[in-house]
Amino acid sequence: MNKLNHIAFIMDGNGRWGRKKNKGRNYGHLKGVETVKKIVKSSIKHRIPFVTFFVFSSENWKRPKTEINFLFKLIKNYFFKEIDSVTKQGIKINILGEIKKLPRDLRNILIKCENLTKKNKNINVNLAINYGGKNEILMAVKKNKKISLRNLERNLYTKNMPDPEILIRTGGNQRLSNFMLWQLAYAELFFLKKLWPDFESKDLKKVINKFKKIKRNYGAI
Ligand code: IPE
Ligand code: IPE
Ligand code: MG
Repeated sequence: MNKLNHIAFIMDGNGRWGRKKNKGRNYGHLKGVETVKKIVKSSIKHRIPFVTFFVFSSENWKRPKTEINFLFKLIKNYFFKEIDSVTKQGIKINILGEIKKLPRDLRNILIKCENLTKKNKNINVNLAINYGGKNEILMAVKKNKKISLRNLERNLYTKNMPDPEILIRTGGNQRLSNFMLWQLAYAELFFLKKLWPDFESKDLKKVINKFKKIKRNYGAI
């Protein structure tokens, strides 16, 4: 049976979900946070050591300012309200992305949260915020005087983490949108039509069960 260390999520479809409910895109983002909480809990039950969520891409700056501000406020509120629960559940938070470009109050709360949770051992929850895969690779290349695979990987945001074996993208589109380009080299890709706020623990379970049965060749036969 395949070993499962890491699942990455492109949680797409929040905006469409909110509009479908006639409540606007931001309502979808609000519901999307609930899905994240639920899926983290399930991942702990499944004993998955690492999960990564694509929260805000380096391309999402192209969105209207009002939506960007709403998203940032949502992330801040999440940590204000949930930090106790995060700690109780033994969740270690890691931020992947260029956080120095984020507003200072948001950046500070993210750093604080990483520090507060760094000793937790139940699960690693990576949040990709202002994350772009091409930029991550470029940054890692620039940091190396002597480039080798190992040196490069040591300078990615995911240093010391296993690559995801599974990528799940909700929302119906079958693309990576600049997400974990390096780390997903050998991932099994699951594209689901469901919008992120509708994604449930049983959908996660289905994916994990399918994954377990896949013959993973890595080029061999
Ligand atoms: C994904 O949902 C969440 C973020 C990018 C923050 P979208 O906001 O892209 O929702 P759709 O794809 O427009 O429905
Ligand atoms: C990917 O979703 C980014 C996140 C989920 C944060 P997008 O909605 O931004 O992707 P595109 O623009 O449709 O490729
Ligand atoms: Mg989208």
